[in-house]
Amino acid sequence: MTTPHINAEASAFASTCLLPGDPLRAQFIAENFFTDAKQVCDVRNMFGYTGTYKGQAVSVMGTGMGIPSCSIYATELIQHYQVQRLVRVGSCGAVLPEVQLRDIILAQGASTDSAVNRQRFGGYDYAALADFELLSKVASYAQQHGQKVRVGNVFSADLFYGVNDNLTDLLARYGILGVEMEAAGLYSVAAAHGAQALTVLTVSDHLQTHQQMSSQERQTGFADMVELTLNSLFS
Ligand code: ADE
Repeated sequence: MTTPHINAEASAFASTCLLPGDPLRAQFIAENFFTDAKQVCDVRNMFGYTGTYKGQAVSVMGTGMGIPSCSIYATELIQHYQVQRLVRVGSCGAVLPEVQLRDIILAQGASTDSAVNRQRFGGYDYAALADFELLSKVASYAQQHGQKVRVGNVFSADLFYGVNDNLTDLLARYGILGVEMEAAGLYSVAAAHGAQALTVLTVSDHLQTHQQMSSQERQTGFADMVELTLNSLFS
């Protein structure tokens, strides 16, 4: 039995799954970081792979963009495929002057303009938080290896093209480290189903200075972040 969006066998996924938005990034991770990677699903070309990293089973699966798409895959991975540790690896835009392109951000919490968590949480405001164990694993690994990471609140926006100057100023006043589109939904799905989740991001653009990484810089920054994440989870 498969799910509506994942046509993998019941035992196809490892209990830890990395979640990039882009399925080609999932393929990149499987091909460049995993040993013995096998593609396990391809509905809508949303590719998933399972292999090993340092001898331990690990999976990766694309989620698409935005909270609704990410929530579908996260829910099915947890409920149907028993994935227990879900780690989004993605990119974000910065709003604070001190946050720079290529910085790595661990999303300790995720604020949002999405109504999804209120729908889930009885109309109340859910504090969408990363799992502390996963967060501390990556933060302490980075610290021990002299790799700078920023840890704090991000903003999961529903509209990529809706983040105007007023919102950017507000987010900066509240110390938001990055704007992305999935973490707040991923965290509540994981909480609702008793799984662990974390979001790790590289800064790909700056909403105040309008700087952007080139596609080559994006690729290198992404690979560095994935390496840090895998080493932290499997050391
Ligand atoms: N992902 C990367 N940059 C982003 C931005 N500026 N807004 C939303 N999501 C992003």
